[in-house]
Amino acid sequence: MSLKPRILVTRRLPPVVEVAVQERFDATLATDDHQFGSGELQRALSDFDGVLSTVTDRFTAEVLAAYPIRARIIANFGVGTDNIDGVAAEAHEIVVTNTPDVLTECTADLVLALILMTLRRTGEGERELRAGRWSGWRPTHLLGHRVTGCILGLVGMGRIARAVGRRAHHGFGMRILCYDPVSPSPVELAAVGAEPRATLEALLAESDIVSLHCPSTPETRRMMSGLRLAQMKPGAFLINTARGDIVDDDALIAALLSGHLAGAGLDVHHGEPRVDPRYLGMENVVLLPHIGSATRETREAMGFRALENLEAFFDGRPVPDRVV
Ligand code: 8YV
Repeated sequence: MSLKPRILVTRRLPPVVEVAVQERFDATLATDDHQFGSGELQRALSDFDGVLSTVTDRFTAEVLAAYPIRARIIANFGVGTDNIDGVAAEAHEIVVTNTPDVLTECTADLVLALILMTLRRTGEGERELRAGRWSGWRPTHLLGHRVTGCILGLVGMGRIARAVGRRAHHGFGMRILCYDPVSPSPVELAAVGAEPRATLEALLAESDIVSLHCPSTPETRRMMSGLRLAQMKPGAFLINTARGDIVDDDALIAALLSGHLAGAGLDVHHGEPRVDPRYLGMENVVLLPHIGSATRETREAMGFRALENLEAFFDGRPVPDRVV
């Protein structure tokens, strides 16, 4: 019988990470890469010492009420841990970890990609070309909005927001505004030339592009309500690479249809992988399938970071990325 801790990995991981997890642990790897249901997650908690989970594993309070619970740690592959009920995990004395830092740069890159795609109408152009509908160059064809020099409002000023600010300010000459209830340090603000705003409302009223960088919490869910979207500048754009449930989809769709907002770029969706079907026909909305951190380099680094957390925990060392 193996004395190594038993670890369940819920999804397929990059091959080098799967090999490393197997070397260190008595690991059961995902074979068919499906999204686990509640029953499977409960069996995982009952049968394994630790679970290496992802955003698609919904450890609700009901799931965490599994009995008996053998698992002592959920090492989440991702920086967000809103898929895990932290209060319930704590009540059951389950440690929860995440994978910060390693996905910052790639996620920030994707924010810039979404800004460029949305303002320059690249998805629309590609769809037209692939459908054989491009009739040729003309001066008034697919005119988008100038990206350079825009005012970018960052909602939340954590690692990813600051990396976006650096790119936008130093690369695209944007003026950067930010709002974060936990005030960033003057040094962090100066690095991206960011001007803090005391309220979200003030930031919304001044920004040409609003990019969301806050976690999904009870306070931020549906934060971008009809009222908040109405506070955005007419003709502004909304970019969301954080979590789908921060935006009220009914209100965003109404703001886009009325013409109050000029467009939106969405990498994350409420109820993923379902996407509100009303977005599908809207040419001014860029839709991506939650690929913010999806580069080989980052996904490998995320896997190794989750592994480091598991190793530290089972070695009895301080766990580096403990969130619960
Ligand atoms: C991850 C993310 O790929 O880290 C996060 O919070 O949103 C993504 O970049 C995803 O969560 C995987 O679990």
